[in-house]
Amino acid sequence: MAVPDTVLSNQHLEAIVETNDEWIRARTGIKERRIAGERESTASLGLRAAQRALDVADILPTAIDLIVVATSTPENIFPSTASLIQNWLGASKAGAFDLSAACSGFVYGVDMATQAIRSGSIQVALVIGAETMTRVLDWQDRGTAILFGDGAGAVVLKGSSIEGGVLSSVLRSDGSGGDLLCIPTVGSEDLNNADFSTNGHKMHKMYMNGSEVFKFATRVIAESIEEALVKADLGIEDISLIVPHQANLRIIQAAARALKIEPDLFMSNLDRYGNTSAASIPIALCEAVQANRVKPGENIAFVGFGGGLTWASMVLRWTGSDLTERRSGRLINQQRRQFSYVLARWRVELRRISRVLGGLVNRLIPGRGRSPDEKTDTL
Ligand code: UT7
Repeated sequence: MAVPDTVLSNQHLEAIVETNDEWIRARTGIKERRIAGERESTASLGLRAAQRALDVADILPTAIDLIVVATSTPENIFPSTASLIQNWLGASKAGAFDLSAACSGFVYGVDMATQAIRSGSIQVALVIGAETMTRVLDWQDRGTAILFGDGAGAVVLKGSSIEGGVLSSVLRSDGSGGDLLCIPTVGSEDLNNADFSTNGHKMHKMYMNGSEVFKFATRVIAESIEEALVKADLGIEDISLIVPHQANLRIIQAAARALKIEPDLFMSNLDRYGNTSAASIPIALCEAVQANRVKPGENIAFVGFGGGLTWASMVLRWTGSDLTERRSGRLINQQRRQFSYVLARWRVELRRISRVLGGLVNRLIPGRGRSPDEKTDTL
């Protein structure tokens, strides 16, 4: 995982919008969130998380076949955030694309990558959830400004003969609720409206009907986890930890009541990071592993929900690396990865220099660099 250093506390927010620490803590469970600095972006946070995931998995960038970035705040419409990260890693054999499923995006991404591995079409995938949500907030809207934060988390998935990994998944969407949670952007039919807004929602800014999304979330979490458990032929008593999307502590408590389990079975770190959308599950997973709350052989579940509306549950048997594990031989691979990152930076520079040189040569040598039409004209 990777989060910005800058902390935005509830007290800081009191100076920005009409709210107070007591209300935010009581109604959401959030105390503070991280906010990206000027030189940080969705791709740079995603890259840092990806580099750490490659270290933990001890995988070289050239071994990656597919990079998926789940995000609602991409660096560009295109190129994808995934392609930027692919280049910075030096993952020269990887395909790359961004996935838009809002706060459910990470679970969707892990499912897509798992299916690609299971089908035999790829061996290694890097799935990243990365967001700079604070860049799309309307700071006058206290219903959203207090909730969201920035960050990224990443996992490496690899084909293996060890039984386990993803046991089942349930992906769902109900587009009829799309207007409850949205960020209108360039393809919107209302882009050219004089007031630059659509249905009263500001262009490129997040809109949320909080209470409706709250009701939707509490309904679908229990339902979809139960469905994923049936598919995996397991019961809730077989699950040692649920890593939910971190939206609101009250949503987690309601889901625990619906599933008739202790709230402690849910991993929660939203007091420190708020809602980081597609990044919240991998960030919470990383902290759960670091805190030794996930051990090899245990069954765990993910559940995401959000814009679309979308929701997704997944049951997994954890076979992942112990983050504290240090094996000899790792150092050499670590150095190889660092070399790959440096080489990737040089490649970009070399490409730029060769373009400038090419332009110069074209200008110096008459006839070079002209279009076929121009050449025909000259003839
Ligand atoms: O990641 C995607 C998924 N997103 C979610 O799951 C978010 C789901 N929704 C929520 O978490 C909650 O609906 C919110 C935290 C957004 C709002 O909490 P709520 O308990 O639903 O509050 P509310 O909107 O019903 O408002 C209750 C009261 C209102 O005052 P009155 O009308 O009762 O006098 C609001 O004006 O609280 C007021 N209020 C606030 N007061 C201080 C609303 N926002 C704030 C605020 N600070 N930030």
